[in-house]
Amino acid sequence: MILHTRRLLLREFTAEDWPAIFAYQNDPRYLRFYERDSVTERQSQALTYHFILWQGEQPRSKVQLAITLAATGEVIGNVGVRRETADEPVADMGFELSPEHWGQGYASEAARAMVDWGFGEWGLERIHAHCVSENAASARVLERAGLRQEARLRDHQFFKDRFWDLTLYGILRAEWEASRGTNGLIR
Ligand SMILES: CC(C)(COP(=O)(O)OP(=O)(O)OC[C@H]1O[C@@H](n2cnc3c(N)ncnc32)[C@H](O)[C@@H]1OP(=O)(O)O)[C@@H](O)C(=O)NCCC(=O)NCCS
Repeated sequence: MILHTRRLLLREFTAEDWPAIFAYQNDPRYLRFYERDSVTERQSQALTYHFILWQGEQPRSKVQLAITLAATGEVIGNVGVRRETADEPVADMGFELSPEHWGQGYASEAARAMVDWGFGEWGLERIHAHCVSENAASARVLERAGLRQEARLRDHQFFKDRFWDLTLYGILRAEWEASRGTNGLIR
């Protein structure tokens, strides 16, 4: 499976991709809103391996694609939608990007493409995501992909010596359909 956006190519992971993931997963900027203080090579390998394993499922319940720069092929992150089972009408989504490439709209571009694909190809009824409430960039990416705030889960996680609120974001199929017919600024 391949998705093309204006500047990105979203493609399936291969076994050779894990070093690109490892290269940014140890960056303190990336780790700020995660439980871990560091990531080992083995953990980045395992994550990539999981994404590859998901490709073999028939029918697929989960898709997590490598975000690559269309111009160079460089792997700069990943994005995906995941269902519990293949007949579930509801999926959650997740994404991450190398800090070297933050702030250029790449995550928003990738997230929008994934939302379009989830509703369009899987016929989903709902896509949702949890994000640490203080993770403003992530919240903004979700909003730019059309998701809206649904709930705030106070003190929902404890890591790095403190509690963190989580915000639940969601978009329904009808909202996605309504946004498609507009002036192109939303999508
Ligand atoms: C979340 C993440 C993918 C965003 O990547 P990005 O490429 O910088 O995102 P984009 O450039 O597409 O858009 C970010 C939006 O957030 C805004 N933003 C970025 N950093 C911000 C900050 N620190 N505070 C407030 N807003 C911020 C940008 O201005 C932009 O909004 P705009 O288009 O209205 O100007 C990236 O920060 C990341 O990988 N973080 C670590 C992993 C993670 O948190 N994943 C999400 C888990 S739910």
